[in-house]
Amino acid sequence: MKLEIAVLSGDGIGPEVTSQAVKAMEAIAHRFDHSFTFKDALVGAIAIEKTGNPLPDKTLQLCADTDAVLFGAIGDPKYDNNPSAPVRPEQGLLRLRKELGLYANIRPVKAYETLLDKSPLKRKIIEGTDISIYRELTGGIYFGEKRLNDEGTIASDLCEYSKEEIERISHLAFKAAQKRRKKLTLVDKANVLESSRLWRKVVTEIATEYPDVGLDFLFVDNAAMQMILNPSQFDVILTENMFGDIISDEASVIGGSIGLLASASVGDTCCMFEPIHGSYPQATGKGIANPIAAILSAAMLLEHFDLMDEANAIKEAVEKALELNITTPDLNSLNPLTTEKVGDFIYDYILNPEDSNINFENIHVGQSTII
Ligand code: IPM
Ligand code: MN
Repeated sequence: MKLEIAVLSGDGIGPEVTSQAVKAMEAIAHRFDHSFTFKDALVGAIAIEKTGNPLPDKTLQLCADTDAVLFGAIGDPKYDNNPSAPVRPEQGLLRLRKELGLYANIRPVKAYETLLDKSPLKRKIIEGTDISIYRELTGGIYFGEKRLNDEGTIASDLCEYSKEEIERISHLAFKAAQKRRKKLTLVDKANVLESSRLWRKVVTEIATEYPDVGLDFLFVDNAAMQMILNPSQFDVILTENMFGDIISDEASVIGGSIGLLASASVGDTCCMFEPIHGSYPQATGKGIANPIAAILSAAMLLEHFDLMDEANAIKEAVEKALELNITTPDLNSLNPLTTEKVGDFIYDYILNPEDSNINFENIHVGQSTII
């Protein structure tokens, strides 16, 4: 298959983790005989610095013209600590999601067998957890009208949803549940919010089209508690934009590191793949950022194009790295490897999985005899 991919590596650790994802895709292209071309473009704080705009027109055009977008991370403390900054890096990402119509953000959360003891949560609580979060991405409070009175003393953000916005992501979530354990949980705040009551009504109607999927509801405050009390009860979680943002960060604790969580953002015509973590500015350039979330985002890209064997080849390489503790300091404080070395191992393993019987513990990553 031929794919043209826009690479928006962004700020902070974005470039270093994204380059490992590109490397993994290059290994896949080689092993499975595909042709992937990568085209870089600016986004975020770096784009503001170079062009004054967090999402230059050229970047948006490239994303619209290519088959998929690989996204790194955006954000810079310089803007976080300045509430009156006229432009912010995050605006680039939000506009990109909106302009490309990426209304569904899919965030898988899994407790890897080999990492069960790395999570701050007890093994018996997280064991068997396998959740797919469907977060609405182009509506709600993120995109509603924003107001600040003239005195700068009263502010508001409107949370607005239309029936159509709820319907389109709900169908995707129900279809995903049909292929999984056939359970869908709508997370909302319907005891307080009118917008949540609309979600409940629309999702309940749609559920009749998917009789094989069990639907239940949880208020978001309870869902936040259930997520750490008993996460394995969840299969597919469907929720609006901000609730999804918050509970997916919370859910990342289950896997042992936020550096493991990938995501896919899809719409009717475009798709984008990005780690759920941020730009982690303190780690920039130190080689300590975990590249696995970015690499697994590349696997989600391959899945999106129905390249299942290819996606599995990446996932197997990642699982092997985790099993052998070939990981960055977030998961391995005693004998950590760098971002690049973890990427090297995954690259090598994708190309030569059958050589995996040799004793990897004795191989220095990057100096492996298998490549
Ligand atoms: C995410 C991020 C973004 C969001 C920020 C960077 C705007 O936290 O992708 O989860 O809030 O959606
Ligand atoms: Mn977030």
